[in-house]
Amino acid sequence: ESRSNLRHFLTLQEYSGEEIINLVDNSAKLKATHPKNPRILEGKTIAMMFSKRSTRTRVATETAMANLGGSSLFLGKDDIQLGVNESLKDTSIVVSSMADCIMARVNGHKDIVEFAKYSSVPVINALSDRFHPTQILADLLTIKEHFGGSSKNVADTKNLFNGMVFSWVGDSNNILYEMMVSLPKLGISLNISTPKAHPVPKDILEYANQSKLNKDTKITLCGSPTEAIHSSNVIVTDTWISMGMESEKKQRLKDFEGYKITMDMINKAGPRENWVFMHCLPRKQEEVDDEVFYSKKHSLVFQEAENRKWTIMSVLQYLLSSKNQ
Ligand code: CP
Ligand code: NVA
Repeated sequence: ESRSNLRHFLTLQEYSGEEIINLVDNSAKLKATHPKNPRILEGKTIAMMFSKRSTRTRVATETAMANLGGSSLFLGKDDIQLGVNESLKDTSIVVSSMADCIMARVNGHKDIVEFAKYSSVPVINALSDRFHPTQILADLLTIKEHFGGSSKNVADTKNLFNGMVFSWVGDSNNILYEMMVSLPKLGISLNISTPKAHPVPKDILEYANQSKLNKDTKITLCGSPTEAIHSSNVIVTDTWISMGMESEKKQRLKDFEGYKITMDMINKAGPRENWVFMHCLPRKQEEVDDEVFYSKKHSLVFQEAENRKWTIMSVLQYLLSSKNQ
């Protein structure tokens, strides 16, 4: 039986700024106390139904679950009946009658909503075409670690985020949308540069604007990558060809001409000295050059990847705690 009071994790749009900060702070704690964390998920199971590939999300979730005493079942698209012999609804009812949590990586976002509708246990979105909530939590933990020093105080995390400016140069995609529905609530401004052929959706933009923490929080649609980067010190991009868009590659490479992030572009744009670069990975060659991507001084990409684990651990603890059961 699905329950209307059950908390899921489909997008950070459904979480308040305070809740997001608590999840990030708790992940920092779990990271610091590993491997001495109590086995709070002893006997619990997570069913991971993935209809697309994954390295980070899968490894993060399976190791996090194991470290807290639980276990996971990885169910790829060729392993289960879903989509071929069985509906999403029936799959959700059956799997949630046995497992304590469902994580799913889907194509259309409506599929994850459907999973949640019929599930009797919490559902985590492991990426849809619209949102990727566990990714942005990891990005926030990474920023907190890099700019926040060793402070463990929740109020400090709040102050740290409030007033920051992130720039996005690249596709209009799930990673950007997840940032747009979460960062403004924390007082983080966003400078967005996407090609004209790939505008941001109106509804996401509207939500971003109406969820801003204060009057200094700004969502700016910029005319060029350099304009976006100019007043920001957290530069973010992602692939131009998301999973499922492989057939559009030729056209997309044309559309994104001039959007490759290079050291030269950043130097010309003139961001503040302590700028950092982030990318959710997997990275392809075309969206960023090696000098930026592997920069010891500026690139946080591998720290960001590892932080997928600690933030997913925090989400698991939150959703599987007795309050939500
Ligand atoms: N960033 C991310 O979700 O990576 P995977 O696709 O490897 O899980
Ligand atoms: N935008 C990318 C993110 C991969 C983690 C995709 O959807 O394929």
